[in-house]
Amino acid sequence: MNSAFRIPKSTIEVRVVPFLDLTRQHTKIKSEILSATQRVYEKGRFILGEEVSAFEKEFSHYCGVRYGVGVGSGTDALYLALKAADIGEGDEVITVANSFVATALAVSFTGATPVFVDIDPKAYTMDPNSLELLLKRQKTRKSGQKIRAVLPVHLFGHPADMDSIMEVANRYDLVVIEDACQAHGATCGRRKTGSLGAMGCFSFYPTKNLGGYGDGGMVVTDDYQYNQKLRLLRCYGERKKYEHILKGHNSRLDEIQAAILRVKLKHLDQWNEERRRKAGLYTKMLSPLGVVCPSEKKEARHVYHLYTIETRKRDALQAFLKKRRIETLIHYPVPIPLEKAYQEMGYRKRDFPLAYQWSRNILSLPFFPELKESEMEEVAQRIEIFIRGKRS
Ligand SMILES: Cc1ncc(COP(=O)(O)O)c(C=O)c1O
Repeated sequence: MNSAFRIPKSTIEVRVVPFLDLTRQHTKIKSEILSATQRVYEKGRFILGEEVSAFEKEFSHYCGVRYGVGVGSGTDALYLALKAADIGEGDEVITVANSFVATALAVSFTGATPVFVDIDPKAYTMDPNSLELLLKRQKTRKSGQKIRAVLPVHLFGHPADMDSIMEVANRYDLVVIEDACQAHGATCGRRKTGSLGAMGCFSFYPTKNLGGYGDGGMVVTDDYQYNQKLRLLRCYGERKKYEHILKGHNSRLDEIQAAILRVKLKHLDQWNEERRRKAGLYTKMLSPLGVVCPSEKKEARHVYHLYTIETRKRDALQAFLKKRRIETLIHYPVPIPLEKAYQEMGYRKRDFPLAYQWSRNILSLPFFPELKESEMEEVAQRIEIFIRGKRS
């Protein structure tokens, strides 16, 4: 071929549709973030100062409860909330088979045992019927351990069926701790996730709907006693300087993260609205193709931390999209009880038929408030080409 007809490599456009690009958000709020962090540097206080207490007030108020306790991560929020409820060795905590592994790890860290139930096939959150069934059977179980708490997860930003879960838990006198790590600003009826159980746990990992620029977390609660105990637990059990009244930990949200999160909290509702609008657009483009799109239950307000579709040809579709530089992820490929880390519990696939089947079909598409509509169209077009078997 005559070299005059070759397209020089540098002019070939390599378009990638990113799964998530946080720099787009940062660019928009850069000056606000820089002045907030500057404020912290100038004050020279980096741990448990004014920024953390202001953010605790602002975020707990946002959630509709009285107290917020800033901690080091979402995992720590769950762990410390369980400890505040006196959960430990000899106890069992019921949670859901399909979540990020941290949900179960937090239970294990306390010395208690996580017990898993299957998911609701529509909202992929804890199935209240499976919960009730497990509790009815508890008398005949031989573990010798006592079920003390329920830990539902508001997965992908969709609230679990809290009315039913609370009703069952109250009947069995169990404390409910919400894993709201993926659901900042979601609502169940009129109430925000995190405000429905005894305590609600949040992660501020950078990719979350409300994410910092590092690790961070918070427990929110309306209960004064839990609030007090959590404050001790996160800081060496210290009541006042060098007076330690219990064996606490060191897990604190830091001042710089709190200052950043205070800026970002002001934008959260607008970002969540944009997520909802974009989720609607994807669904409009994808559901005519026969792809199962996320749905929203009555009474629930989904905040689409992730946009996850279901298809039986998941692996082939993911490979097809990868070749076309469209990034996707699987949340999560293996239900927690079937993970190696929990193999000693002896669970089998048939113990969680819905969670297992679901884990094989799900695929999370590129999704974040700043994703361009042209990128979403490209994703949808590629999926259509894959489904209709056209060449591209
Ligand atoms: C459902 C759920 N629970 C707990 C966690 C743990 O949060 P962190 O990563 O802040 O420890 C996460 C974080 O990804 C999560 O998605």
